[in-house]
Amino acid sequence: MTLGFVIGESKPTVVTGQTSRSLPIGEYVIINSKEGKIVGLVEKSVVSSAALGDVKNYDETLESIEVAALNKRDKSHTAMIRILGFLESLQKGKAILPAIPPTPGTEIVKATKDDLGQIFGPENEEWIKIGGLLRNPEIDSLINLNKIVSRHLGILAMTGMGKSNLVTLLAKQIAELDGTVIIFDYHNDYSGLDFPKMNVIDAKINPRLLEADTLSDVLEIREGADIQQRVLRLAFTPEVKESANFWEALDSQVQYIGANPDRKEDRHSADRVQDKIDDARHRSSEILDPDMSNPVALIKEGRLNILNVSEFTDRQANVALAYYLQELLADRKAAVNAKGGKTKSKRSYRFNTPIFVIIEEAHVFIPKNEDAKAKYWAAKIAREGRKFGLGLCIVSQRPRDIEANVLSQMGSLAVMKIVQEDDQRQIASAAESISREFIGQLTSLNIGDAVLVGQWVNLPAIVHIDEMKGKKIGSDQDAVGEWAVAKKFEEVGAKSMKDLTRKDF
Ligand SMILES: Nc1ncnc2c1ncn2[C@@H]1O[C@H](COP(=O)(O)OP(=O)(O)OP(=O)(O)O)[C@@H](O)[C@H]1O
Ligand SMILES: [Mg+2]
Repeated sequence: MTLGFVIGESKPTVVTGQTSRSLPIGEYVIINSKEGKIVGLVEKSVVSSAALGDVKNYDETLESIEVAALNKRDKSHTAMIRILGFLESLQKGKAILPAIPPTPGTEIVKATKDDLGQIFGPENEEWIKIGGLLRNPEIDSLINLNKIVSRHLGILAMTGMGKSNLVTLLAKQIAELDGTVIIFDYHNDYSGLDFPKMNVIDAKINPRLLEADTLSDVLEIREGADIQQRVLRLAFTPEVKESANFWEALDSQVQYIGANPDRKEDRHSADRVQDKIDDARHRSSEILDPDMSNPVALIKEGRLNILNVSEFTDRQANVALAYYLQELLADRKAAVNAKGGKTKSKRSYRFNTPIFVIIEEAHVFIPKNEDAKAKYWAAKIAREGRKFGLGLCIVSQRPRDIEANVLSQMGSLAVMKIVQEDDQRQIASAAESISREFIGQLTSLNIGDAVLVGQWVNLPAIVHIDEMKGKKIGSDQDAVGEWAVAKKFEEVGAKSMKDLTRKDF
């Protein structure tokens, strides 16, 4: 179906189209150039009216509207169309741009399912469906799973725009393929999901396995409290680590150090450390468990593992994430090296196949300009994970607060609605393939719409992600509804109380 024609000045990368209707931004079209069919993406769309272009007052506007309605030539629909490459080469997974620009007068036609199906939905088991093209909805949008496990993924959007929905969709499909997924669930959003192959775990920390400075984080010893940190470091001896009754052994060792007559000034700090140990034992007893085996043993291969860290303080969550990331990387390294016969070391490993780790609220764990243990390990996995089959997915509503070095290592991105310019700028600098016009689109996306760029797609795509049915994840609270129900209960309660009173007396 003819949509219009190329007009004005053309370039090999961009043309202007004059069309019979306004083309929506994000629509894919075909330019029937002499050299072959070219795929184009509408990046800008303008409609203007000759009669209404230069009106001076209200009455003239009314008249001009009538004139415009009668004149078929009044409206002009102009579109800026970015050239993505020859259709034939794109269907084979390669983008080849024309050497010479399409001549003005070249026909622009609607892209069909036959044209685009192979590009956005290759028939290959690596590719899974996550939605449809936003402006060509009859065409499915698929993504290459292998690319995100080996080259990582960023899911970025304002709150409530569909990040967790996409996470659930991906995680479920990976688990269905017998892959291992771990979601680091900061707000306990995912444990209510109802899928087969789910393994919900309350994340725990075994304090015996930590380093002294990490233990001090877990006990919430203040960062500047140097003497307290020193006391803890001295008290955290190998004997304490191995003693049957860990907390008591640690507590008495701290007391012993505080009683050193040569360092009377330590006494007060040792008391404070004892308080902290006492606090941690009572307040965090659910999550600090010196009697558990390795926390990583709770994770199951071939499952969707949900690690609930919602009971942790931020510092504890940071320690836990750092611990899991470090262990997972070491495990995968051992597995890959053993398979390749590269190592003589006999470090045993748990996971035989690649793992995909998803970090929600990534800006908390991988913050810009701040040192954090989890950040160190996330950055290391972002750089090295590829070799060992450990993929990272960072999910955030504040891309501007994420360490740029880590964000730029994400080989693929799904970006949903984002209004803040700081965030847009950060995304633009992280992803070269995301053009300025695309970024401009981010403000106008609706819930569930996303721009997909990077290695998991053959072409940048504006899509609508399928909504996951089933239990709602992290949905907004229905305050008004809950108040109404509570009031009803109160009324019913009061009434039955009256009935009761009347009957009984
Ligand atoms: N693809 C979609 N299609 C239709 N509705 C969607 C889609 N994705 C999400 N929604 C709706 O939007 C709501 C919020 O989605 P979701 O929890 O995924 O957002 P989020 O970006 O993770 O938010 P937060 O930043 O608060 O975690 C969902 O409860 C769902 O109703
Ligand atoms: Mg969410």
